[in-house]
Amino acid sequence: MHHLLILPGDGIGPEIMPEVRRVAEWFMKRGTPISLDEELYGVASWKAYGTLMRDATWEKIQKADAILFGATGSPEYDEIPAEHKKHDYLLKMRHELDLFTNLRPIKLVPGMEDASTLRPEILRGTDMVIVRELTGGLYFGEPRGIEVDGAGVGRAFNTLVYTTEEVRRIARAAFELARSRGRRVCNVDKSNVLETFRFWRDTVIELHQSEFQDVELSHLYVDNCAMQLVRRPAQFDVILTENLFGDILSDCAAMVAGSLGMLPSASLGARLADGRRHALYEPIHGSAPDIAGQSIANPCGAILSFAMCLRYTVGALEDALWLESAVERVIARGLRTADIARPGSPTVSTVAMGDAILQELDAHR
Ligand code: NAI
Ligand code: MG
Repeated sequence: MHHLLILPGDGIGPEIMPEVRRVAEWFMKRGTPISLDEELYGVASWKAYGTLMRDATWEKIQKADAILFGATGSPEYDEIPAEHKKHDYLLKMRHELDLFTNLRPIKLVPGMEDASTLRPEILRGTDMVIVRELTGGLYFGEPRGIEVDGAGVGRAFNTLVYTTEEVRRIARAAFELARSRGRRVCNVDKSNVLETFRFWRDTVIELHQSEFQDVELSHLYVDNCAMQLVRRPAQFDVILTENLFGDILSDCAAMVAGSLGMLPSASLGARLADGRRHALYEPIHGSAPDIAGQSIANPCGAILSFAMCLRYTVGALEDALWLESAVERVIARGLRTADIARPGSPTVSTVAMGDAILQELDAHR
């Protein structure tokens, strides 16, 4: 049995996650070995309990086989006193659960060509995964800070640091993933300028030579990669990159899929002694405060994140494929939430999109 903890979070999180719950319950009824629990997270937790993170919730986070996360971020945080906001709990979860492997699959769902800003012939055949290092690099490096000296001159600094082991384990994840797909890894760095990336690239090459010669390895500088992602996105199979670069490149690549609202992600930890690994699944978008409360958010990214949970945590590959194809069939039928609709054409609500996906799950069974 796999214990899943739902944390809806802020903004549109509480609108999209009930659709994920309905889908998860559909699989539970059919015997998929999962159990569901749910806790308030973020502003909702603050309002109910006067704290952003209850000890009981943190305990459940550590015990869960996987977390199904909605989104974080709200203007309402401004009203919460600073002493209650010492942690960004999403970063804390990534760090303390050691979720160093972030997988961001980017695929054009057939029928969605018109939702992208790129021409259909450029998009055709795009099917890649960005493997982003998630617990190191510029976002976590020490020292970091802002200083002002006696003369009032300011200075700010962050540190881009990686150890051999940190690079090896994320590179290994990328090579292993490539073996299950197109057997091609493109390593993206900035080794022409920064020492950290020279070290990064050398470490990747060394691992490739010693263990993964059956996988084709290429390299791009990050600036060129940004250009290639919009020039010819279909050239990529697996992209391996650093934390900050992965953050930026994946939002850029998201335009292939037409909307941030369509894209899932998985954040995975190392395998523990008992064979389990911590995991957190979330859509790549944020809390979308501009549309929160209107019941128009697209739940597909969150639902496809649950499909990744079926694949990577539950090991239910057939269920994952079934769910992914149900989403594809709904899109192919022309159902559109506002973010993926052509201007002037009809749109459906968050719940109606969930209904349609459930209907497709039921069909042909
Ligand atoms: P965002 O991803 O929330 O929104 C960007 C744009 O995409 C907005 O116009 C939004 O309406 C639209 N959008 C996003 N998801 C959508 C969906 N499911 N359906 C329809 N439209 C969707 O990014 P933004 O606006 O930069 O940040 C808003 C808040 O979210 C901030 O507080 C930010 O810090 C936070 N954030 C949280 C993340 C997370 O929880 N992992 C990731 C990114 C941002
Ligand atoms: Mg981002």
